[in-house]
Amino acid sequence: MPFLALDLGTSSVKVVLCNDQGQILSSATAEYPLHQPHPGWSEQHPDDWWNASANAIRRTLASAATVLSVPQADIAASIHAVGLSGQMHGSVFLDAHAPASGGRASPLRPAILWNDQRTGPQCEAIQSILGGRRACVEQLGNAPLPGFTLPKLMWVREHEPDTWRRVRHLLLPKDFIRFRLTGELATDVGDAGGVLLFDLHQRSWNTQVAEKLGIDPAVLPAVYESCAVTGQITPHAAAETGLAPGTPVVAGSGDNQCAAAGSGIVSPGQVLAVLGTSGVMYAHCEIPTPDLGEPPGRLQTFCAPDGNAAAPGQWCSTGCMLSAAGALAWCRSVIAPEVPFDVLMHEAESAPPGCDGLLFLPYLTGERCPHPDPAARGGWIGLTARHTRAHLVRAVLEGVTFGMGQMLDLMRTAGVRVERIGLSGGGNRSALWRQIQADVYGVPVCSTEGDESGSALGAALLAGVGIARWPSLAAAAAESVRMTEMRDPQSPEAYANVRAVYAGVYARLREVFIELACG
Ligand code: XUL
Repeated sequence: MPFLALDLGTSSVKVVLCNDQGQILSSATAEYPLHQPHPGWSEQHPDDWWNASANAIRRTLASAATVLSVPQADIAASIHAVGLSGQMHGSVFLDAHAPASGGRASPLRPAILWNDQRTGPQCEAIQSILGGRRACVEQLGNAPLPGFTLPKLMWVREHEPDTWRRVRHLLLPKDFIRFRLTGELATDVGDAGGVLLFDLHQRSWNTQVAEKLGIDPAVLPAVYESCAVTGQITPHAAAETGLAPGTPVVAGSGDNQCAAAGSGIVSPGQVLAVLGTSGVMYAHCEIPTPDLGEPPGRLQTFCAPDGNAAAPGQWCSTGCMLSAAGALAWCRSVIAPEVPFDVLMHEAESAPPGCDGLLFLPYLTGERCPHPDPAARGGWIGLTARHTRAHLVRAVLEGVTFGMGQMLDLMRTAGVRVERIGLSGGGNRSALWRQIQADVYGVPVCSTEGDESGSALGAALLAGVGIARWPSLAAAAAESVRMTEMRDPQSPEAYANVRAVYAGVYARLREVFIELACG
């Protein structure tokens, strides 16, 4: 049972132990609170992450010991490597004592998370210092988004100068767990791109841009390729987690990169569509493909997790829409809270593709991609007395899928190759939604086993490549990721008209959204 991996999510941490065929032997999750001290703020205590992680690691080892009737210490000793995945962009600030603390130092303040919205003014400032939004995308591969790490550093510098004076080291969320496990201050190329101070071509920090923005590059952690070993479990971490001292810890990556690895999306032409609360489209690319459309930077460009100590990896393009399966959950809660999901899905099949002219706009919490607009609003358009509950539900599935399809179109325009799409996330439990996706994306879609553990499983594969169990991530995925279904497009033409209307609706309604937001 050689690999243990951890995915540090926004509400909980998931730990999996898997064998060297990528099969999960045991797992555990542990939750932690999210703090919203002001509207739009989103923070967590890294010490809570660590306590939950240590607890979930101990329970994963204990449950494997029970299932396999082997002493827990033997299980720990047999683990060849530990892998890490996590929420991206969060900021963990440490002082000058961190390197000598052996991983025990606590952060100077709570971490500010990826979904925190406080840094609009800092994003404006970055844009104006670097010469505009397009210039940012050209220099850094990405436009400043409030969720990225750099604007958070600038916010702390402006609003909490006493804390800022003490900051000597910055870590990303999963890298704080690495620090506690190994004492090392390090990150991987994938997560580093989400800071907005990274040179995607060189796969190293962009110290020139950091200096232009008044950030001392010395605060940034060492950067490794995702499948490289970054340190070993310390005796102190071993005592807290039950892991064996000396076990190698591999760099890992952001949760989307690891989810892609766990679903076998590891080479150019392969794309992952994730229907979680939010919707993510992720494409593996052979070259960096920054989004220079209008407005630039609606898609993000990061490093893919397929590099190791011997050879650098490739890149990925990602887009995130804010309400995906979340829109379906909302719809059920308001129109049919008593009806189970599968019954509702079965009913929705009775409405035809295109829903007899009914459209759903999924902007229930504003939108990020393809329309970066917090004032965007959702709703059904085109209702007539003929429409039934089946139409309402099917329109939600279609509207979300049209939004995902728009992200795919942006990728194609940026030069990304799209040949096959893997599906992941709770929304894909519905066969109807999988078929709508095949028709709207216009390419075959496939589902894989173990999809709920995608990011943790992906991190386990990176760990395996890191210690040379597999020669490459592609080899690891080929051996470990099992496809359960492949669906071809059946009637893409049935959506042509309604998709064309959907494509123009946001622009036509933008003024209405602004008026409603003022009201
Ligand atoms: C990626 C992003 C989220 C976070 C949280 O850019 O903001 O997917 O990683 O899961």
